Amino acid sequence: MSVHEIAIGIEKLNFSYEKGKEILSNISLNINRGEFFALLGSNGAGKSTLLKLMNGLLKEYEGTIKIFGEDIRKIKRDQLFTIVCTVFQDPNDQLFALTVYEDISFGPRNMGLLDKEVKERVMSSLEAVGLQGFENRPIKTLSYGQKKRLCIAGVLAMQPKIILMDEPLSGLDPMGVREIAMLLKKLNKEKGLTIVMATHEVDLIPLYVDRVAILSKGKITRLGEPANVFSGSEELKNAKLRLPYVAKLMEQLKSEGALEYNKLPLTVGEAKKEILKKIQS
Ligand SMILES: Nc1ncnc2c1ncn2[C@@H]1O[C@H](COP(=O)(O)OP(=O)(O)O)[C@@H](O)[C@H]1O
Ligand SMILES: [Mg+2]
Repeated sequence: MSVHEIAIGIEKLNFSYEKGKEILSNISLNINRGEFFALLGSNGAGKSTLLKLMNGLLKEYEGTIKIFGEDIRKIKRDQLFTIVCTVFQDPNDQLFALTVYEDISFGPRNMGLLDKEVKERVMSSLEAVGLQGFENRPIKTLSYGQKKRLCIAGVLAMQPKIILMDEPLSGLDPMGVREIAMLLKKLNKEKGLTIVMATHEVDLIPLYVDRVAILSKGKITRLGEPANVFSGSEELKNAKLRLPYVAKLMEQLKSEGALEYNKLPLTVGEAKKEILKKIQS
């Protein structure tokens, strides 16, 4: 694999906010171009910190971080912002303008694009997140879910290659979670966007992500495809996480001798297949 197929390459990364109190220890991780990647960890594991290192916000660290093969320290700030964009956890930290249009157009305008292109980007980004027609709305009149979508639209308007998302699904109702997760998956598949999502929600991971890393007390304790990572119950427990509920149910049925399967089902669809096999046998 050529080095530029690696969107984010991290080697032997150590980080602390205060001397002597290490927050991230010896992190080595390659996130591939076009990958939908999840950083899974409980509160305080270091997910947000790792995202802030990946987007250049935190600069005092040991080790190397490369973006498409180039050392992040050598990439100019203005340029980095057009390659790696972040959707922060709380939309109120991210949105600053009075109206929707003003907010989304800020980034593209700062890139020096012509008004016409700025407008095109704003409109197509709003459409992508289902907020068409909202351009003149004052931001303070939007619901929390709409603000989250707006933050994603703002990032899309930059047309970055990598999007980092800090808990993008937290605080949304079930419908909102589904819609946002599907939108992310679509952007990932259709535009080849590399997405790194920090989350503590295990149930959605098998549905959407290609690979997942468990982050526990600042260390990566397991890394791989969801099926592989969720087969490590020890690491899940140590990281204060759990199996997806569906998988938990299937595991219990198996241990009680009610069902047989080779690979632990992680989603409703996979579980349904195994249950139907049993019923119809
Ligand atoms: N600005 C900061 N100064 C000092 N410690 C911090 C700061 N931000 C976060 N931390 C600490 O770093 C650790 C990891 O935090 P964070 O990256 O926010 O974890 P997560 O996003 O997984 O919940 C926590 O112990 C937290 O208290
Ligand atoms: Mg966090």
